[in-house]
Amino acid sequence: MIPIDDDMMPIDTMDIDTMPVDTMPVDTMPVAVPCDPQVIYFDQDVLPILNSNCAFSGCHDAASAEDGVILESYEDVIATADVEPFNLNDSEIYEVLVDSDLDERMPPAPTAALSSEQIQIIAQWILQGGENLECDPTLSECDSTDVSFSIIVQPIIASHCQGCHSGSVPSGGIDLVDYDGVKVVADDGKLIGAISWDSGFENMPQGGDQLSDCNISKIRSWVEDGAPNN
Ligand code: HEC
Repeated sequence: MIPIDDDMMPIDTMDIDTMPVDTMPVDTMPVAVPCDPQVIYFDQDVLPILNSNCAFSGCHDAASAEDGVILESYEDVIATADVEPFNLNDSEIYEVLVDSDLDERMPPAPTAALSSEQIQIIAQWILQGGENLECDPTLSECDSTDVSFSIIVQPIIASHCQGCHSGSVPSGGIDLVDYDGVKVVADDGKLIGAISWDSGFENMPQGGDQLSDCNISKIRSWVEDGAPNN
């Protein structure tokens, strides 16, 4: 190999070196960071839980705003839901999830409490400072091979769908609490149609952001494998 000294620098490297600094679009570039699995992101992790369990008409959508609390966006949550960064006990939004007094607990009885995983996500978000951190899910690796129902599919559905698709009167008559219910819509094509926002299907999650491309491709791959109970 020939050692390269300054005199032999390739032409295009020199071009970059001599580019005037003020033409470099440094400040205007959006910062795209891959999602860190250790970090809770409000939009990806917290908002879907609120959207599926709390931000309904009659409860905490902007029109109803029960108790003045609106849970439709980061700005609404910070403005109305008493988030005290790094402090669970002073954060009303957390306190109501774990209140042992069923009259105070949210979602109110007879609706079931959030799952411990969902409460944990909200708690961790507060303990990380309750920020609206952003990341770009498309920069992270997306492994959609051999997708497991219990490890991958069920948690996505639990946080994004079960608030509506559970209980004695599940939305649309579709119960997504366990494998059997999910299997029905996996097999009849409605699951993929609804999460892909295909025409002819209702867009799910209703009223919320579409699932990430990675989550959609994982669920699609699981359905294509025959929607096994794995
Ligand atoms: C905020 C409540 C809400 C959330 C969250 C929600 N759904 Fe729905 N879903 C509904 C309602 C209401 C209907 C019935 C819509 C209708 O028939 O007009 C429905 C219908 C459906 C249907 C039938 C669609 C069709 O075109 O026939 C599927 C499948 C479905 N939901 C899956 C999901 C999945 C999967 C998620 C999570 C990714 C989800 N839903 C999240 C309320 C919700």
